[in-house]
Amino acid sequence: MRALEKDRSGIVLTSLSKSFGVVQAVRAIDVNIAAGEIVALLGPNGAGKTTTIDMVLGLTRPDKGTVTLFGQSPSDAVKAGLVGGMLQTGSPPQYLNVRELITMVASLYPHALDVDEVLRLTGTTEIAKRSTVKLSGGQTQRVRFAIALVADPDLLVLDEPTASIDVEGRRDFWNVMRSVAAEGKTVIFATHYLEEADSYADRIILMARGRIVADGPPTEIKAKVGGRVIRATLVDVPVAELSQLPGVSNAERRGEGVTLSCGDSEASDKVLRELLARYPGARDLEVRGVGLEEAFLELTADDQDQADALRAGTDFNRGQELQ
Ligand SMILES: Nc1ncnc2c1ncn2[C@@H]1O[C@H](COP(=O)(O)OP(=O)(O)O)[C@@H](O)[C@H]1O
Ligand SMILES: [Mg+2]
Repeated sequence: MRALEKDRSGIVLTSLSKSFGVVQAVRAIDVNIAAGEIVALLGPNGAGKTTTIDMVLGLTRPDKGTVTLFGQSPSDAVKAGLVGGMLQTGSPPQYLNVRELITMVASLYPHALDVDEVLRLTGTTEIAKRSTVKLSGGQTQRVRFAIALVADPDLLVLDEPTASIDVEGRRDFWNVMRSVAAEGKTVIFATHYLEEADSYADRIILMARGRIVADGPPTEIKAKVGGRVIRATLVDVPVAELSQLPGVSNAERRGEGVTLSCGDSEASDKVLRELLARYPGARDLEVRGVGLEEAFLELTADDQDQADALRAGTDFNRGQELQ
């Protein structure tokens, strides 16, 4: 029955843009998400994830561009109970317990799930009688998830859902999300953890400074941003020779120190072994992951930003710094 209410086109963002003053939070992004996909919006703070999500949910009006959810506008899709959102901000009403709150939300939707079922699915049965003000970070996030889920939406939109949860709680949360999504729901979640995006999404859309800088399966994105860097003290070996080592994508020298960029941890392991075998004099070895911020800077270094910055004069730069 419900399949008739929606188009299978999934989620379509066309040329979606939003600025706040001089800050271009989201810059003309185009995204197509098929029904049933689990997609991570990955990016550092300020990338434009929340602004995008707010436009998907119809909470923020785009300056330009459009959002359609299963062929409908965000507000129509939300009213029809097709969309469940879990936002970064906002707290539930304070005078209700968990079960009352979820029951109240359920009453707003035409095809709501059974409240006990939602409590069970989200692991909130034990805290059902607890007041919503007396919950831990992890419990609060599970209750928020229950609220998003109770309408039995086709699309779940989660903005940094594990931000205030410890590592173990995170794993629990994602296991719940995964089992729920396995029923064919479409899920879009924002995160700034590469590991989280990698472990729980089928596809990663990488955002930086309001733009999409990469979009693909986690393996592909990891190769782009999950790089490793090896540093070592090593004299008298030319960088040209080091850059020929299998697994090294770039080699640089500063004084006695060399820096070797490698694709991923597999590549850096190989390079380390080779390095020590060929140059036993190498010392002070250090391996570290390239942080997301660093990887993003590299990915966006020669994109439109510089041209934009030049055109906009100092205002653009000031806008970026003031955020
Ligand atoms: N209401 C607002 N007013 C002014 N600037 C905003 C507002 N919301 C977001 N921004 C700015 O837009 C940019 C993108 O923010 P946001 O979408 O929250 O990023 P993310 O969720 O990826 O951290 C940031 O520079 C942020 O400071
Ligand atoms: Mg955000």
